[in-house]
Amino acid sequence: MSINVALDGPSGAGKSTIAKMAAAGLGFVYVDTGAMYRTIAYYCIKEGADVSDAQAVKAALANIDISLKNEGTQQVFLNGENVSDLIRTPEISMGASKVSAIPEVRAFLLDLQKDIAANNDIIMDGRDIGTVVLPDAQVKIFLTASAEERANRRFKELQEKGDPSTYEEVLADINQRDYNDIHRDIAPLRQAEDAVLVDSSSLTLEQTAEEIMRIINEKTAKKKERKVRELMPVRPISKSRRYNPVKLVFYTILRYIVMGLYHIYYDIHFEGTENVPKDGGNVFASNHRSYQDPVFIAIHTRTPLSYMAKEELFKQNVLFTALIKFFGAFPVSRGKGDTAVIDTSIEKLEMGRNLVIFPEGTRSKDGKVGAGKTGVALVAAVAQTRIVPVGIVFEGSLKFRRRVTVRYGTPLTPAEIGVTGTDPRSLKKLKLKIMEDITNLVEKDVNKL
Ligand code: DC
Repeated sequence: MSINVALDGPSGAGKSTIAKMAAAGLGFVYVDTGAMYRTIAYYCIKEGADVSDAQAVKAALANIDISLKNEGTQQVFLNGENVSDLIRTPEISMGASKVSAIPEVRAFLLDLQKDIAANNDIIMDGRDIGTVVLPDAQVKIFLTASAEERANRRFKELQEKGDPSTYEEVLADINQRDYNDIHRDIAPLRQAEDAVLVDSSSLTLEQTAEEIMRIINEKTAKKKERKVRELMPVRPISKSRRYNPVKLVFYTILRYIVMGLYHIYYDIHFEGTENVPKDGGNVFASNHRSYQDPVFIAIHTRTPLSYMAKEELFKQNVLFTALIKFFGAFPVSRGKGDTAVIDTSIEKLEMGRNLVIFPEGTRSKDGKVGAGKTGVALVAAVAQTRIVPVGIVFEGSLKFRRRVTVRYGTPLTPAEIGVTGTDPRSLKKLKLKIMEDITNLVEKDVNKL
């Protein structure tokens, strides 16, 4: 599989220079997506089409063919003509910012960008690479610098080219483009949650490039580590250790109290409760909508749950930490794929606890099920235990009495679908099956929404 590095950030942060340096150092192909938007703006301006008129720009797309060629540096071709130098004027910069807010323009370029990434080791720079174009990129970096510093750098560059723009004009231009890029409705400029932030305001070009290369090397080395971890031996759990009966009675009472309270606070519905195993030691794999999710799931499970929670949550006050620990939370450090988490998970299952995992990792704001991470499949495959898919659906925007539906799906064991090891192919197969089950549960009545 090719290695993809997503490099996003505002105009003038030095992305293209840095990406070129890092790509040369690592032997990767550099892909400048800004050049693609610039090419569309260039075509429109050349043909006399108004770049602010979405209809005119959309009509122009039918006559545009963009291709990239690597001739030492990246060259951009518009209908066969090399336009690489023609697209670097302030007028085209502003035009590109405008056309990039048109959904059809973004859709037009998305396939081209994805195709290039699928077939090459690349560093791709832009605004939405880590969030939209390559959400699964192995490395995501958000490179920024203060607007003044960026204007300063661009001003010097333009002066060297003999451009008459003043510093104030360049700064105003940068601020305007930042505003356009951040506030557009579609694929706005935003740091991906899992991106590393690099502020180059007080760094030289060389220092910034070094830092970027260090991050890429570190992340890709981690990937190799993770591969080793994927071949963990299978250790089927015995489930012989029953849960402490006194604790269980206490837990059951608590569960009924919580059930009552949640039925008052939410308009909550449960479906498929017959699918919930009566014993413990199962993995519940759910989509992630809110911090309440572990409680929603727990309401119908008879043995206590454990779930992974962000390490940061354990650094709040002592009482809060004690509370979430009592309710089964254990810490994971994000992004540090450590085997210790897998070992703790297996231990919890062995103890007879049910384990809740949110394979998407982060909460979904719009309710759509995102891509899953492999951890869930790894835990289930090592333990060879049952997985219960769960779909949680929120409807409406009420705070009080919001409609919540929790659906438990048919449990499956890894062996049932032929997964008896922890090799990457088996884990992928299991993960995809789990994500498919979760998605089906979530989308069951999407038409009714
Ligand atoms: O990086 P650049 O200055 O060459 O980009 C030109 C414009 O294109 C910029 O204003 C924002 C837009 N752009 C975008 O919307 N999405 C990308 N992935 C890259 C650029």
